[in-house]
Amino acid sequence: MVFDAHKKLTHFLSQEFYSSKSVGFVPTMGALHDGHIALMQQAQKDNDILVVSIFVNPTQFDNSKDLDKYPRNLDQDIQLIKDKLDESRVIIYAPAIQDVYGEKTIAKTYKYDGLEHEMEGANRPGHFDGVGTILSFLFDVIQPDRAYFGEKDYQQLQIVKKLVEQSNRNIEIIGCPIHREKSGLAMSSRNGRLTPQGWEAASMLHRLLKDAKSKFANHSIEQIHQFVREEIKRDDRVKLEYFTIANESDLKPTQLKKPDVRYRAFIVAHIDGVRLIDNMSMHKD
Ligand code: PAJ
Repeated sequence: MVFDAHKKLTHFLSQEFYSSKSVGFVPTMGALHDGHIALMQQAQKDNDILVVSIFVNPTQFDNSKDLDKYPRNLDQDIQLIKDKLDESRVIIYAPAIQDVYGEKTIAKTYKYDGLEHEMEGANRPGHFDGVGTILSFLFDVIQPDRAYFGEKDYQQLQIVKKLVEQSNRNIEIIGCPIHREKSGLAMSSRNGRLTPQGWEAASMLHRLLKDAKSKFANHSIEQIHQFVREEIKRDDRVKLEYFTIANESDLKPTQLKKPDVRYRAFIVAHIDGVRLIDNMSMHKD
């Protein structure tokens, strides 16, 4: 069932039928790919009903060109969901901007115990305010039992857990593994904007993360940083925005490895003017 009008959706959700079922929720910005579909399949496995939202949220874009260029193809997205999931148990919610924001498209301000100051928070001002605003709205409308997020946006996943904890919402947040192309490139709605050469160059990000992981036990963090910087310099199609090795729970960057702390490497680079993001745990298990 597809709802593009807020009123119709809320009417449907207020029916008794809905309240007696377990509801899994997958929020997306559309231009769906197999990474999104894997979250939906997991949600459908765990719950009676799956709600998918498709909404390109303007307040989380710090760059208006990126917002303009963000791919939008609702009909194709709906078809893909119908093809890959049990259609009889899916609700698709694609609200209009006014449904979400009314007259003024502005974000509220959120603090997430300092998680908002690291990486994407530092490099994309306002981004996590926009994410907090849209997810608070969607969680309130849909009232899911569980919500599913990809580890591809690992910082977002941690921030959503914090948001739910701080607002005392009774929603279980479930993280799902990163889906990759055969080349290792993490699937993304933005990949479609890469040229064939850019696509080829982009596999470097996954390779560097794997190399960082294999070096992690026997090299210093500084040596790993140096290695990554040098590798990236060798390919002038790839512009590094940041590479960080950070504590997996507070996301603070580190220069020293402490025992009993779990670390993760994070990379953001630009290829063909497309911003690509990826990350990987530095531990074998
Ligand atoms: P979007 O980029 O469309 O991603 C929707 C969900 O799919 C996110 O949880 C994201 O981490 C996950 N995802 C994307 N690519 C993935 C991949 N290759 N493997 C696994 N999961 C992947 O993230 C957003 O939208 C927005 O910020 C949103 C949460 C919808 C709020 O507007």
